[in-house]
Amino acid sequence: MPINIVVVTGSPRSKGNSEFLADAFIEGAEESGNIITKFNVGKMEIKGCIACEYCFSHNGTCAQDDDMQEIYSALHKAEMLVFASPIYYYGFTSQLKAVIDRLYASYGRENFFSIKSTILLLTCEEEAVAAESAILQYKTIVKYLGWQDKGVIVQELVNKKGEIQGKKSLEIAKKMAMNLQDP
Ligand SMILES: Cc1cc2nc3c(=O)[nH]c(=O)nc-3n(C[C@H](O)[C@H](O)[C@H](O)COP(=O)(O)O)c2cc1C
Repeated sequence: MPINIVVVTGSPRSKGNSEFLADAFIEGAEESGNIITKFNVGKMEIKGCIACEYCFSHNGTCAQDDDMQEIYSALHKAEMLVFASPIYYYGFTSQLKAVIDRLYASYGRENFFSIKSTILLLTCEEEAVAAESAILQYKTIVKYLGWQDKGVIVQELVNKKGEIQGKKSLEIAKKMAMNLQDP
């Protein structure tokens, strides 16, 4: 059964390593008939959560009228959410973290989004150990939100734009996307 997948890419750098990894995943997912909506959040205008708690009294509607509204709409229709990010100071980029923080709009609302499962794609300049704190954060967030982690791919030792090309992780990401089980 084809599934709806939202992919959020967090690098501010176009055609960077994490976007290549995301695109390899997307290629596999599309070849298997799934429906993909990709958001390059590194290039979108998405502010951090301002803790105004407007969402608490407005059915989870966020008071901030920025590009996150498009992502909210997509998260109400998709079954899977894929995060792709370079490692910035052992975590996600601030652009992607803003998106994660804005998921606060779902606070206290079970099954507010239709997302059931998630995947994490990371690239970093150092060895893969540099991604461990981001992976732990991802796993904790996903568990907290009641979603199921379906896998993590880390491409280590890539820094220059596009340096990931030819690396095995691209094939692994594509294969992972071609073998998605029930969301
Ligand atoms: C602000 C900044 C912080 C970074 N911090 C780390 C880091 O802590 N560890 C690491 O291994 N790489 C770090 N990097 C390197 C990137 O993670 C790496 O180049 C990645 O492949 C870039 O992905 P992109 O091409 O998709 O932007 C950092 C890069 C930048 C610009």
